[in-house]
Amino acid sequence: MHNKLSWGILGTGNIARQFCIGVNASHRGKLMAVGSRTAESAAKFAATHQIPVAHDSYEGLLADPRVEAVYVSLPNTLHREWTIKALQAGKHVLCEKPFAANTVDSEAMFDVAEQRGLVLIEAFMYRAHPLIHAVIESVRQGDIGTLQLIRTSFCYRTTRIEGNIRFDPNLASGGLMDIGCYCINFSRHFAGEEPSSISAIALKPAGGVDQVAAGMMLFPRGLVASFTSGMSLQADNTAYLCGTEGYIEIPIPWKPPAIGATFSIVRATPPRMDQTGLAAASSVPNSGPRQTFTVDANMDLYGLEADDFAGTVLDGKPPMLTRQDTLGNMRVLDEMRRQVGPH
Ligand SMILES: NC(=O)c1ccc[n+]([C@@H]2O[C@H](COP(=O)([O-])OP(=O)(O)OC[C@H]3O[C@@H](n4cnc5c(N)ncnc54)[C@H](OP(=O)(O)O)[C@@H]3O)[C@@H](O)[C@H]2O)c1
Repeated sequence: MHNKLSWGILGTGNIARQFCIGVNASHRGKLMAVGSRTAESAAKFAATHQIPVAHDSYEGLLADPRVEAVYVSLPNTLHREWTIKALQAGKHVLCEKPFAANTVDSEAMFDVAEQRGLVLIEAFMYRAHPLIHAVIESVRQGDIGTLQLIRTSFCYRTTRIEGNIRFDPNLASGGLMDIGCYCINFSRHFAGEEPSSISAIALKPAGGVDQVAAGMMLFPRGLVASFTSGMSLQADNTAYLCGTEGYIEIPIPWKPPAIGATFSIVRATPPRMDQTGLAAASSVPNSGPRQTFTVDANMDLYGLEADDFAGTVLDGKPPMLTRQDTLGNMRVLDEMRRQVGPH
């Protein structure tokens, strides 16, 4: 039994770069090879990240016997094809979110993984941070009473539209797929079940992808979740879990820092109009008793993700995200995208 997992990286884009920094910082991952559509890009990427082998094709990477696990960081529409090819080549796969273009493709990918007895996990890196585990535990032990409402937001503004895979309607893109998927995953994770009712609206130029969207989910246990996602605006990228006895605020839920990640529990919050003087002028939404907890990971977020994946492959640890979890997310995305209209 060896202790380090050898990674092969498919694609040399933005998130592949961040993942490689993470693997180089991880305890149980080592970068073995990269595969790109061009030799030049593969060689440059390999040199930047101290990767021993550069392949000038994706096929070359998959045929490399030194690679044990493949990281798929390609446009969404290519996840199915290259995940299945990697599995057929005998590799474990960590596939970027959103897992595929739709639920049907996702099921096909998991079917192959199961037939081959290989690990296949969706790369929702935020789930690897101990912050999320600490908040789960806080909710579970009743710190905010009965959880009834989840509010999340994930937005950014980019002006790079030409050549950006997120804006290409042919690549199963758009804000819901790119970042709404985090809010959906977070809400379902904390609800602990699948929504019984799903709705979404979006700003979507004709022939384009959804750029600003709002989604809602109703969960059978008696819980409402709402979120906003956007690729053309700035907003608070926060998560709130609201219960009968108080609420939890996570100021940085999606990319929590290695050191100094926090969440706060706020209780006994009066309606804002009841507040007077300084309390009302406070920048804090409500001025009830607030306890803030710091959760250090002491590791790059993508390094945590790589170590978590290595634990599943090498030690048989349960996967960070199961097939059921990923398929549940894809079903919500399918339905929301159906509602906001075809590209
Ligand atoms: N977990 C996270 O934090 C996170 C963050 C951002 C993105 N993502 C996900 O990761 C995936 C890639 O996103 P990204 O931001 O890294 O994208 P990107 O910078 O555009 O990189 C995508 C890479 O895919 C390869 N590729 C193959 N066919 C392509 C095509 N037709 N058009 C463009 N690129 C093509 C290219 O690599 P070669 O030229 O080397 O072949 C390219 O560098 C997406 O699924 C996205 O949702 C995850």
